Amino acid sequence: MIGIFDSGIGGLTVVKELLRQAPDVSFVYLGDTARTPYGNKSAEVVRQYALEDAQFLIDQGATSIIIACHTASALAEQSLRESFPKIPIFGMIHQTVDAALALKPKHLGVIGTRATIGSNVYPAVLKEMGVKKIAVQQVACPLFTVLAEEGLLDDQVTKLVAKKYLSGFRAHPLDVLIMGCTHYPLLRAVIQHAVTKRTTLIDPAQVTVAHILNVLPDIERTKKQVFFLSDVASHTVQIATKWMGKKIEFEKAVLQ
Ligand code: DGL
Repeated sequence: MIGIFDSGIGGLTVVKELLRQAPDVSFVYLGDTARTPYGNKSAEVVRQYALEDAQFLIDQGATSIIIACHTASALAEQSLRESFPKIPIFGMIHQTVDAALALKPKHLGVIGTRATIGSNVYPAVLKEMGVKKIAVQQVACPLFTVLAEEGLLDDQVTKLVAKKYLSGFRAHPLDVLIMGCTHYPLLRAVIQHAVTKRTTLIDPAQVTVAHILNVLPDIERTKKQVFFLSDVASHTVQIATKWMGKKIEFEKAVLQ
């Protein structure tokens, strides 16, 4: 069974993509809603939370882990691999870089939380891969998370915020923009409008899920699908229902 965790309910965008590509797959989801957001926290704290999240999922029977949260992928993927060497761990970054490179961009943009952008993970991975000729421009867009959770997916306020964050990309139009946060694909239309039409947006959930299904062909498909939150607040459940298009029964997770 796959374990999937996120700092909150944003990771449901990854679950939705997983269900689109493999409707009967078995998984256990954990959203750490009691401690969200991770995007403004220090690397040390994000690593500690990520270890506790992964341990919880393993205790529930997970045999592989998807770090749906980009912030945790950026800051804690390596620590999780070291802590759980026998468990396949999938973050959101590497497949996304591969998908971006396949489009042969000269000018690549990355948007994410403050912690993800501050970690410089995307330029670091490109450097590791020996890629030198791509100009990478990064912008942290912390308000996007809040706007998505308030349901303002196509609102004037969101359009103004997008203009403020992304207008810098218009001077040298991007070939490719990585939407490096669980919530951003929900704002796809507004983001596309704020950059130019010629910019291809990459949703890391799509490429990561496709990659995982490819490398784990024997994945359990008994449709055992369990959802945990560390705080089951009614507003959170309401948003989750809206995003998933169906009511989800959340169980309360106690993390330690
Ligand atoms: N899930 C986080 C991410 O993808 C966004 C929300 C947060 O800041 O915790 O980076």
